[in-house]
Amino acid sequence: MIWWSMKREKDSRLKHHMFVCTNQKPNGPCCYSKGGKELRDSLKTSLRDRGLWGEYKVSASGCLGGCESGITCVIYPQGIWLKEVTLDGKELLLNTLLEDM
Ligand code: FES
Repeated sequence: MIWWSMKREKDSRLKHHMFVCTNQKPNGPCCYSKGGKELRDSLKTSLRDRGLWGEYKVSASGCLGGCESGITCVIYPQGIWLKEVTLDGKELLLNTLLEDM
């Protein structure tokens, strides 16, 4: 087993890693139907365009348990959970991510 921790990687450029739920359910509310995949893709593009990919990463996640109020996101290593995120809120989310938390 291999253990990895952002805190152990003192020389790592990675500051924050955001997970965006892109889970799709056949029935019921889900982040996919609310634009989770588009949000994840758009955040990745914005970070790459700004030359910040490597310091910040955005990954897709499975269900984070907030389906009713999705899109649900979580930022590590801070463990900040966000819900009711929308595509329209992308710039605010990006600015929050880029702030020193
Ligand atoms: S589908 Fe996104 S939190 Fe459940």
